[in-house]
Amino acid sequence: MTDKETHLANLEQIQKDALAALADVADADALEAWRVAHLGRSSAVMGVFSSMGTLDKELRPLMGKTANEVRQALEGALEEKRQLMEADALKQALETEKLDVTLPGRPVTRGRLHPLTQVLRRIIQIFGDMGFQVYPSPEVETDDYNFTYLNMPPYHPARDMWDTFYTKQEGVLLRTHTSPGQIRVMRARAPEPIRVILPGATMRYEQLSARSEIEFAQVEVLVVGERVSFAELKGTLDDFARRLFGEEARTRLRPSHFPFTEPSAEFDVGCFVCEGEGCPVCKETGWLEILGCGMVHPVVLEYGGYDPAVYSGFAAGMGIDRSTLMRYRIDDIRHFRNNDVRFLRQF
Ligand code: DAH
Repeated sequence: MTDKETHLANLEQIQKDALAALADVADADALEAWRVAHLGRSSAVMGVFSSMGTLDKELRPLMGKTANEVRQALEGALEEKRQLMEADALKQALETEKLDVTLPGRPVTRGRLHPLTQVLRRIIQIFGDMGFQVYPSPEVETDDYNFTYLNMPPYHPARDMWDTFYTKQEGVLLRTHTSPGQIRVMRARAPEPIRVILPGATMRYEQLSARSEIEFAQVEVLVVGERVSFAELKGTLDDFARRLFGEEARTRLRPSHFPFTEPSAEFDVGCFVCEGEGCPVCKETGWLEILGCGMVHPVVLEYGGYDPAVYSGFAAGMGIDRSTLMRYRIDDIRHFRNNDVRFLRQF
């Protein structure tokens, strides 16, 4: 054998031995040990490189090239082995850590709109269709807006009907109705015509019971312009009731009194529980009271900045809690603000 042949055979043997050893490698530690042994600084292939200087000059290029090929072959084999072992490990993990994809997932609990919000949105939509805007107004009000400008000067006995919570600040209180918003929108818009609804929270100093809460929601209706008539009030409310309660809903106006309207009326719809027969829900009358209304009192128009000789208007105010109670046959008004999901889930 020539020198050259001996050297080539040696390299071939190095490769063979290394690959044979690799075949026995079974885990990551062994693989690392194999790398150090067969590709590390003191490995056989690397030895060939460092002893290159002892070779005949004309042998060196061939030997260098061949040694390189051996090293690349071993590196390739190492990489292949590593991937093989990773795939094996994954396969094993998939088999041992079984995931039962047929198990039903845990459902995400979905929120829903509060029943009062649902009714309020419906009311806003109905009035929106009739050309009304929503006008926001404050829940903390002054005595003047809540009473005086609504034609209830200090010591007016009607104030007792709207007893409220007073703040430590003189003349500042929690509004008992959305009616003070009438003055706010009039003062902002005068002398332009007005066609708005004012929804919002209202508060009253009341004994808590199944029928009354200290907080409840109202929607105020206000139309102001030239030649606004009682007929327009009746038409608007009838239209509203039919859209909210159904085409066949019966309605009636009953004379009443409010300091801020003249004349004043209550607006009733036929009881949708007994359909007029008389039942506990309608207190045997066959009618459900929905709202108070009337033609805006001249004093109120004046406080709002409208000349009552030129302008007229109608107003209405409805509590949406009671209507919602009736609509869903809820037995206690306090459910609305307890935030018990067992209650809320039902709507
Ligand atoms: N503000 C009255 C209340 O809370 C309801 C009301 C009656 C509002 C007649 C009005 C109205 O605008 O015209 O009892």
